[in-house]
Amino acid sequence: MDPFQEVQAALEEGRAALLEADGPATLEAARVAFLGKSGRVAGLMDRIRTVDPASRPRFGQEMNKLKAELAGLFEERTKALGSQAKAGVPGVDLTLPGRAPSVGALHPLTQAAREIVRVFETLGFEETEGPEIEDEFHNFVALNIPAGHPARDEKDNFYVDEGRLLRTQTSTVQIRTLETRPLPLRIVALGRVYRPDTVDATHHYMFHQIEGLAVDKGLTLADLKATLLEFMRALYGPEVGIRLRPSFFPFTEPSAEIDVEFPGRGFVEIGGSGMVDPNVFEAVGVDPEVWSGFAFGLGIERLAMRRFGVPDIRRFTECDARFLRQLA
Ligand code: DAH
Repeated sequence: MDPFQEVQAALEEGRAALLEADGPATLEAARVAFLGKSGRVAGLMDRIRTVDPASRPRFGQEMNKLKAELAGLFEERTKALGSQAKAGVPGVDLTLPGRAPSVGALHPLTQAAREIVRVFETLGFEETEGPEIEDEFHNFVALNIPAGHPARDEKDNFYVDEGRLLRTQTSTVQIRTLETRPLPLRIVALGRVYRPDTVDATHHYMFHQIEGLAVDKGLTLADLKATLLEFMRALYGPEVGIRLRPSFFPFTEPSAEIDVEFPGRGFVEIGGSGMVDPNVFEAVGVDPEVWSGFAFGLGIERLAMRRFGVPDIRRFTECDARFLRQLA
């Protein structure tokens, strides 16, 4: 190779080696390889003999430039790596406080749901569940809501195809349970229900209910009321009361709205209830002369809004971390 080209190559490779050095050891190795006693630069000095005499002054100048440039770069890199060494690992400031890992939390509705189910379990109810896509038999017919009843209007429901819809109430699970389980029984079923309601602060097209059903011999309205009162007190404290307000549901007779009384703050309607209608028992082949039962359906969002002081049902589904964090 032409000696001038060798000088050029040594310059480029030397520069690269010094720039790539990432610590004192690799920097020193690069210095030895290029500027050391038997390094590239020293070796090139010997090449001056092969340069024709007229070009030797120019070769000498090129060599000086090479040496000066690599030596300068070595100084620069020594300083740069030195100040990094003082700071520890490059880019890491060991004096900063640590970053706490961000830990997830249960959604407020999940928290409320688990607490509610746990209370019913202590009252002897077993948790069960049913499908969210239901047929008309389980959502309506067996619950004593005959064809032609306004609750079955297509516009009032989310039908997914002929005869199947997103369940409008968890009361469907009463039927599914009576079809499959031996009596007596005490169950709760918690899950989503769907209605094409206009969304506002207290309504949503999707919300959660917990359904309760107890079937035994000789159950009365007193058993229903005592169960609900125990539940509300476990959830809200011993000072709350309940009021059963006469109402109508096709699948219970008599039927009652459940209001919780918060002392000094009045009543809040929290769900429906009643004694299982004989027609419901007959639809699933249970003898109403032998068995009696009570049932209730409570809105989880309503219970949770009271429990956590949430003023708007939409907060639960907006996925706003600022809201969720407050209840985590
Ligand atoms: N399924 C009713 C609703 O969604 C609530 C309800 C009322 C459930 C009375 C019951 C009951 O089990 O007995 O409005």
